Amino acid sequence: MQDRFSLAGRTAMVTGASSGLGRHFADTLAAAGATVVLGARRRRRLDEAVDQIAAVAGRAFAVDLDVTDPGSVTAAFAAAEAECGLIDIVINNAGTVTGGRAEETLLDDWQMVVDTNLTGVHLVAAEAARRLIAGGRPGSLVTIASILGLRVSPGNAAYNATKAAVIQLTKSQALEWARHGIRVNAICPGYFETELNQGFLQSERGQAMVRRIPLRRVGRLEELDGLLLLLASDAGSFITGSAMVIDGGHLCSSL
Ligand SMILES: NC(=O)c1ccc[n+]([C@@H]2O[C@H](COP(=O)([O-])OP(=O)(O)OC[C@H]3O[C@@H](n4cnc5c(N)ncnc54)[C@H](OP(=O)(O)O)[C@@H]3O)[C@@H](O)[C@H]2O)c1
Repeated sequence: MQDRFSLAGRTAMVTGASSGLGRHFADTLAAAGATVVLGARRRRRLDEAVDQIAAVAGRAFAVDLDVTDPGSVTAAFAAAEAECGLIDIVINNAGTVTGGRAEETLLDDWQMVVDTNLTGVHLVAAEAARRLIAGGRPGSLVTIASILGLRVSPGNAAYNATKAAVIQLTKSQALEWARHGIRVNAICPGYFETELNQGFLQSERGQAMVRRIPLRRVGRLEELDGLLLLLASDAGSFITGSAMVIDGGHLCSSL
C-alpha cells in the first residue's frame, strides 16, 4: 500500500518554498522519495533548505522564481529540467496577502495579490503542462488555495477573491488536461501559523477566531502531509478537479 504513496523517481517543484507551507512541502516530498526543486525569490533561504534536505539524504535543487514574471517562470522550469529532468509534480503554493477594508484597497496591493495568487498559479501550471504534454508524460499539479476561497473573512477581499478564482482555475485545468494524464487538484487549508498570518493569529481577534474552529486550534504543518501525498502520488490516480478542505472543521463551524 505504501508504494502507492511513494514518489521515488519523480521530480517535484514547489513554488514559494522559502518559508511556511512550501518549505514544509519540500521536506515532505523529498522524504517520499521525490527530487525536489524549490522556487522563490529569497534565494539564500532556498539554498539553506537545499542543504537541510541533502543532510537527511534527500535530493533538492533551488531555482530563482518570481511567479508574477512569465520570463522568470520559464527560466526556472528550464533550469530545473536541465538539472533534474521533466517536472512531474508541481505544488503551486506561492501566495501573498494584503490586509485592509475592501473600499480602501490600493490598486497596487490589489494587483500584487492578483498577480501572485492567481496569475502566478496560471503561469506556473501552464508552463508545467506545456512541458508534460510535449514530453508525453502524465503529471500531478496541486494548487494551494484556501478555505477563504470557499467562505470569506473581513479585511481580505483581494485574497478571498483570488483564492476562489484559483479553485475554478484548478477545475478548468483539470478538465482540459485530463486527456493528457495530468491531474490538477486544489488543497484548501484552514489556518496554519506561518509568516503570512502570524500577526493576525497572535492578535486578540485571531485568538477569538481560533476558539471558533471546532478542533479549537490551528493546524500543524505535518497535518497537511497525508493530503499532499495523496494528490501528488499514484494513491490519488483517480482524483482530479477536486478542491479538498483541511481545516479542523473551520468551514462547518456553527452559524
Ligand atoms: N498559512 C495558512 O494558514 C494558509 C491557509 C490557507 C492557504 N495558505 C496558502 O498557502 C500558501 C503559502 O503560504 P504560507 O502561509 O506558507 O505563507 P509564507 O510563509 O508567507 O510563504 C509564502 C511563500 O510564497 C512565496 N512568494 C510570494 N510571492 C512570490 C512570488 N512573486 N514569486 C515566488 N514566490 C513568491 C514566498 O517566497 P519569497 O518571498 O522568497 O519569494 C514564500 O515562500 C499561500 O498560497 C497561502 O495563501 C496558507
